Amino acid sequence: MGKATAVANPNIAFVKYWGKADEALNLPANPSLSMNLAALTTVTTVEFRSGQACDVVTIDGHPATGQALHRVVAHLDRVRALAGSNEQAWVASRNDFPAATGLASSSSAFAALTLAATQAAGLSLDEVRLSRLARLGSGSACRSVPAGFALWEMEEAHQVAPPEHWDLRDLVAIVTGQAKAVSSHDGHALAPTSPLYAARLAAVVGWLAAVEDGLARRDLAAMGPAVEADALAMHAVMMTSHPSLLYWLPATVAVLQAVRAWRDGGLEAYFPVDAGPNVHCLCRAAAAGEVENRLKAIPGVQQVVASGPGNGVRPVNWHLF
Ligand code: DP6
Repeated sequence: MGKATAVANPNIAFVKYWGKADEALNLPANPSLSMNLAALTTVTTVEFRSGQACDVVTIDGHPATGQALHRVVAHLDRVRALAGSNEQAWVASRNDFPAATGLASSSSAFAALTLAATQAAGLSLDEVRLSRLARLGSGSACRSVPAGFALWEMEEAHQVAPPEHWDLRDLVAIVTGQAKAVSSHDGHALAPTSPLYAARLAAVVGWLAAVEDGLARRDLAAMGPAVEADALAMHAVMMTSHPSLLYWLPATVAVLQAVRAWRDGGLEAYFPVDAGPNVHCLCRAAAAGEVENRLKAIPGVQQVVASGPGNGVRPVNWHLF
């Protein structure tokens, strides 16, 4: 077997995946819709080597250990099973995310790993099969396989619009660079313990319809309120889970309040918030400079990372080692 390298962008969900219908298969409790983030990339090189005793994995130059290593090895096992091989792999993965932003993402990580590992194993999977396989590594990774905007309903994600469809901008206000105490991966299992879980799942249907409609018509005002409602509902579920997950910091709330005040003043921006304290702001390209300047002026905002819609996972013809 050989060696291959792939690059992927993480994605930000406008309608969130929070809770699983099947934990082993990473089947979601509800459909989700996202945009790949062009400014952020994960590059991963995989080489299968005969005679190597075990998989060796480095992430950003450090040996992977614990749950991170376990998840990568489990994913390599899926690829080996497909290829009918038992060769162990050498894996290096690098994120070009600005240092200490807390933006590390399993979506780009498992999308890039899936393409690099399957190609290194001599397999050639189409987009649907890549997305399904990436999902088994991390649910949100299936949405980083297609380019642009993707909808994930059951086994795989499909593109709903290419990156060129709409130059929507996502500005992430970084309020802390620290990794979160409870990962999304572990958080999913807690979702059903919240009394608000079923209520959110019932409401998601309407929010998804509004987001799909706004996206198709490039109408931010049509989709923005649904994006915010779903992000807030997901955090309400987290906060009321048992044990409770409270990801927000004072600066998180300051950004949420500011975005609403700007809107009242005529600046169109809406916030999707992921599982963490950093706040994403969606706006049109023409407003991106103004939103960025205002975000940077909020006390507690350390850095702003701006992105347009990104590509799908893709091979590159150079390697990390
Ligand atoms: C809050 O995809 O990280 O980002 O499937 O267990 O790997 P696993 O979970 P993961 O969950 C992402 C949760 C989220 C919302 C989203 O991206 O839809």
